[in-house]
Amino acid sequence: MTASTDIDGAMPALLAAARTVRENAHAPYSRFAVGAAVLDERGRIHAGCNVENAAYPQGWCAETSAIAAMVAAGGRRVMAVAVCAVADAPVTPCGGCRQKLREFAADDCPVWAANASGLRARYTLGELLPHGFGPDHLPGTMSP
Ligand code: THU
Repeated sequence: MTASTDIDGAMPALLAAARTVRENAHAPYSRFAVGAAVLDERGRIHAGCNVENAAYPQGWCAETSAIAAMVAAGGRRVMAVAVCAVADAPVTPCGGCRQKLREFAADDCPVWAANASGLRARYTLGELLPHGFGPDHLPGTMSP
């Protein structure tokens, strides 16, 4: 899973996983359901949805859920990201999730924004989080 063609080829499956998991979002407060999926270094797809809480700040984003699923399954690199939500503008990961993705993804990692009908916009993580702080900045730590 290194060639960009492999990554691009995974886009339909990644979008589908994000769209499907969005149906399980727990978003009774915002009513804004989000699904996300990440492609790992072995070509596996891990999906997650947003999980809100009656104590509002305790909720978390779909992208965070997807990253957690990947790590729990042994994945260590995010090769591509898909986000599925329904809004006027394409929905991209929030700032906190961009930083969480930065832990596992390179600047050129594609971030695909979709709605229920399909792809709406494509970005790279480096475009969404330019000059981001990451593990490579910490001396003495192993690169992920
Ligand atoms: N949300 C996500 O899950 N991902 C995003 O990319 C944007 C926002 C969630 C957080 C909250 O549950 C709801 O959407 C409204 O902000």
